[in-house]
Amino acid sequence: MDLAGRTVIVTGASGGIGVPLCAALLTAGAHVLAVGRDEARLRRLAQQLPAGRLSWAVGDVATEEGRARVLDAAHAARPTPSVLVLAHAQAAFGLFEDQSPEEMARLMQTNLVAPMLLVHGLLPVLRMHAMSSVVVVGSTFGSLAFPGFAAYSASKFGLRGLTEALAREYADTSLRFQYLSPRATRTPFNTPAVDALNAELKVASDAPAEVARQLIAAITQGTSRLQLGWPEKLFARLNGLVPGLVDRNLRASLPIVRRHARRSRPSAVETLRHEPQSR
Ligand SMILES: NC(=O)c1ccc[n+]([C@@H]2O[C@H](COP(=O)([O-])OP(=O)(O)OC[C@H]3O[C@@H](n4cnc5c(N)ncnc54)[C@H](OP(=O)(O)O)[C@@H]3O)[C@@H](O)[C@H]2O)c1
Repeated sequence: MDLAGRTVIVTGASGGIGVPLCAALLTAGAHVLAVGRDEARLRRLAQQLPAGRLSWAVGDVATEEGRARVLDAAHAARPTPSVLVLAHAQAAFGLFEDQSPEEMARLMQTNLVAPMLLVHGLLPVLRMHAMSSVVVVGSTFGSLAFPGFAAYSASKFGLRGLTEALAREYADTSLRFQYLSPRATRTPFNTPAVDALNAELKVASDAPAEVARQLIAAITQGTSRLQLGWPEKLFARLNGLVPGLVDRNLRASLPIVRRHARRSRPSAVETLRHEPQSR
C-alpha cells in the first residue's frame, strides 16, 4: 500500500512509538490524524514534525465521548481516512492480586474494548476506499502470556483474536487487518520496575524509531502478522506449539518477576518487608 496522499488515523500518536511513527508516515507522504488525551502533547508533536499534514483529535478512547470525537474528526478529514493505526495502550505491571478491579476494568476498556469500538465506528469511513487497512499494534505478550502482566496479556491476546477474526471476516474485501507486535521498546510505557525486570531477565529492547521503521514497512507491504525480535518470534511460536515448555521456562523466572512486581507498587513495600522469602 502506497501511503502517499492517504489520511492515517494514529491513536497513541504522542507516545514513545507513536511520535516516530507519525514522523515516518509524514515522510511517506501521508496525512496524519493524531489521537491522544493530552492536547499539549499533541500540540508539541505537531510543532516538532513538518507542518501541514498533521491534525489532531483530543479524546480518551476508553470513553464514548472520546471515541465520538475521533469519529467526528475522521468524518471531517480530507481525504477521508483509509488507514487506522491503533497504537495506544495502558500498561500494567504488577501481581494480579495487587491490582484493583477498577484498574483492570479500565485497562480492558482502553486496550481492547476501545479498539474494537473504534474499528466498528470507523468501518463505514474505511470501506469507502478501494484499499484500506486497520493496523493493530500488539505485543509479544499477546502471544506469550507473562506473569506480572496478566491483565495486559489478556488485553493483547484479545486484540490478536479480534484482528485475526476480522481479517478472516473481511478476507474477500479490500479492507485488511494487520496485527503487528513490537517486543520491549525503550519508551515511557515501561516503568523503572519493568526496565529493571527486563535487565535482570536479559530481555532485549528496541529503539522506538526502529520499531516505527518496521511498522511502516509492514503496513506498506501488507504484512498480516509480525512479531519483532528473533527470540520473541521463537518463543511466541513455541508457546502455541509446546506451552508446557514455556511454562517451565517462565516458572524459573517467577521469583524475579515477583520481586520486581512487589517493588513497583508503593503500597506493597510494607507487605514485601513482612513476606516470607519462600513465597
Ligand atoms: N513500549 C514497549 O515496550 C511496548 C512493547 C510492546 C508493545 N507495545 C505497544 O506499543 C503501543 C505504543 O506503546 P508506547 O511504548 O508508544 O506507549 P507510550 O509511550 O506509553 O504511549 C502511549 C500513547 O497512548 C496514548 N493513550 C493512552 N491511553 C489513552 C486513552 N485512553 N485514550 C487515548 N490515548 C491514549 C498516550 O497519550 P495520552 O497520554 O496523551 O493520552 C500516548 O500517546 C502500545 O499499544 C503498547 O501496548 C509497547
